[in-house]
Amino acid sequence: MDNTQEFWQKRWLNNKTGWDIGYAAPPITDYIDTITDKSISILIPGAGNAYEAEYLHKNGFTNVYVMDIAPKPLENFKERVKDFPGEHLLNEDFFKHTGQYDLIIEQTFFIAIDPALRGKYALKMRELLKPGGHLTGLLIFKNEPSPGGPPYVDTKEEYLLHFEGVLNIQKFEIAQNSIKPRAGWEVFIDMVK
Ligand SMILES: C[S@@+](CC[C@H](N)C(=O)[O-])C[C@H]1O[C@@H](n2cnc3c(N)ncnc32)[C@H](O)[C@@H]1O
Repeated sequence: MDNTQEFWQKRWLNNKTGWDIGYAAPPITDYIDTITDKSISILIPGAGNAYEAEYLHKNGFTNVYVMDIAPKPLENFKERVKDFPGEHLLNEDFFKHTGQYDLIIEQTFFIAIDPALRGKYALKMRELLKPGGHLTGLLIFKNEPSPGGPPYVDTKEEYLLHFEGVLNIQKFEIAQNSIKPRAGWEVFIDMVK
């Protein structure tokens, strides 16, 4: 295990998973509900317990990939969603992954990575998207950056800098239907390659 993998696996083993809301985030499920082609390829990196993947699977999406650097959440997922294809559970480092997807879903992964890697994150997303593919999801922000992390929570203006000129930003707006503790503090993003 490298340092990053060891760090996150420990968080999972010690149940230090305060980010986990226990179900799929409503702004993301609302977006999923607008997708008619259930065969599109979808990646959820830094997926954790991957409630969004469970939602997709239960709603008939057949080409969903769940990725986490820590093995533990993938084991949890396997146990919880028994009929999900095992070969679609990827115990990998996002930054080393290869592949191309129609849709990549972001949910508290961006704020989990070192801010020094944000530019690399945006470029990697572009690499992993098919032409016309979407990066969609939620970015938690604050009006003032909070020191330390993870989570590395910054201003939405700071986040935006990393995506401008890399992806075509179709939506970057405060989510309307966030869960109560995050209401007003999540940007819904929809960016296209
Ligand atoms: C803050 S948690 C979010 C989990 C989930 N998306 C959620 O919202 O509940 C971040 C997750 O990203 C994973 N992770 C961190 N660095 C990663 C990397 N380089 N590649 C893949 N997964 C990573 C961690 O193991 C952890 O499960």
